[in-house]
Amino acid sequence: MDCLWIEGGKKLAGTIEIPPAKNAALPLICLSLLTDKPVRFRKIPDVQDILSLKNLLGELGVQSTEPGLFHCPTIKSTIAPYDLVRKMRASILVLGPLVARTGMAEVSLPGGCAIGERPVDIHLKGLKALGAEINLEGGYIKAKTKGLVGCRFVLDFPTVTGTINLVTAAVLAKGETIFENVAKEPEVVEVIEALNKMGAKIDGAGTDRLLIQGQPSLNGIEWTIQPDRIQLITYLAAGAITGGSVTCTPYRHSTMNSVIQKFSEMGAKILERENSISIEAPRVLDPIDFETAPFPGFPTDAQAQFIGCLTVADPAKGSSTVRETVFENRFGHVAELRRMGANIEVNGNTAVVKGVKELSGASVMASDLRASACLVLAGLKANGRTKVRRIYHLDRGYEGLESRLLSLGANVWRERE
Ligand code: EPZ
Repeated sequence: MDCLWIEGGKKLAGTIEIPPAKNAALPLICLSLLTDKPVRFRKIPDVQDILSLKNLLGELGVQSTEPGLFHCPTIKSTIAPYDLVRKMRASILVLGPLVARTGMAEVSLPGGCAIGERPVDIHLKGLKALGAEINLEGGYIKAKTKGLVGCRFVLDFPTVTGTINLVTAAVLAKGETIFENVAKEPEVVEVIEALNKMGAKIDGAGTDRLLIQGQPSLNGIEWTIQPDRIQLITYLAAGAITGGSVTCTPYRHSTMNSVIQKFSEMGAKILERENSISIEAPRVLDPIDFETAPFPGFPTDAQAQFIGCLTVADPAKGSSTVRETVFENRFGHVAELRRMGANIEVNGNTAVVKGVKELSGASVMASDLRASACLVLAGLKANGRTKVRRIYHLDRGYEGLESRLLSLGANVWRERE
């Protein structure tokens, strides 16, 4: 198992390129299940989650003979087995397309994970509304239908993968579908834009309500995946916590306004240009309050990185209060940060962070993807050496993290334990 060593104390400075977004790429690649024509991406993220999805899609009949190309002339199997699904919850994204194209699917229930229970009840209720018969048997979701039919369905919560699963089913359903209270995350909007380019008819991307006219079939597509806004936020946070100045490119405007506002409240200067964004951080950050929420609210995927920054905010200016409203158990980084000297109290879904003058390097354990990123940030600031263990979590979603941090002047290296 690999671990990451960080010698803290360097101010980060420079410009880095942001890779394509994992959370956009995962559902976009699954669109290959909806058509017998090739689906091609100019660049796909080089992270473990994408490899896991490729393995699963290969089982289902998707051929990937060159990088970025996914082609499924016929569906070979409609079963997404436990061993492949358990590696990555996003495997649930094959459910909608499989049912839409073949009228059947057996997908292992993804189960809970380190950040919460993560049920898929809304995905299943929506598919039932579209006319699928759903049974849960032996840990599997078994769906079948003689043909999906357009419907009207209000999601109980604007779930990201739930919205995508339902849209990818409804695009091939007979007639008109209206979904209300859908997710508006940039990754959801991108999937809808890609589907429309494939010949789907979907109105309302980026609003609470989608109107879909089902089509008998879809075409292939060539597509460029948007930059990863969460990796981008992580590198800006690396600039923030080290009092440095970091520029990230490419950048998509309006995908992180809530985050820009909070960086500004911390006393950092943010400069947006046509295709890049920069942060210039003060020597000491100010404490802030925020709560996570579905887009356009503050992303839960950036909560841990912000808590990392707030551990060293100016204690003379008070403390920071952070409320996590999207997942019920997303403070896995807190106990590890305390081991580095952070002063954080957690009560239910609220963390109160009182800044400390210094963090000290320690051996810490990553518990999930963004918690790992937070520990790396803390390590960049801490006195001495920090060892972040279990970084397979990081490898699921961060591409070339060490090389990017090195190019910004950090002192980091990987070691096999
Ligand atoms: C996506 O997960 C992302 N994953 C997550 O990224 C991200 O944290 C999350 O959206 C929220 O933005 C991918 O895109 C692959 P949700 P998803 O369904 O779709 C509840 C990362 O670090 N819910 O929007 O699984 C659920 O329990 C991650 O890259 C139901 O109750 O999240 C949670 O409390 C991890 N029933 C809330 O909704 C359902 O049927 C939001 O979950 C579905 C969800």
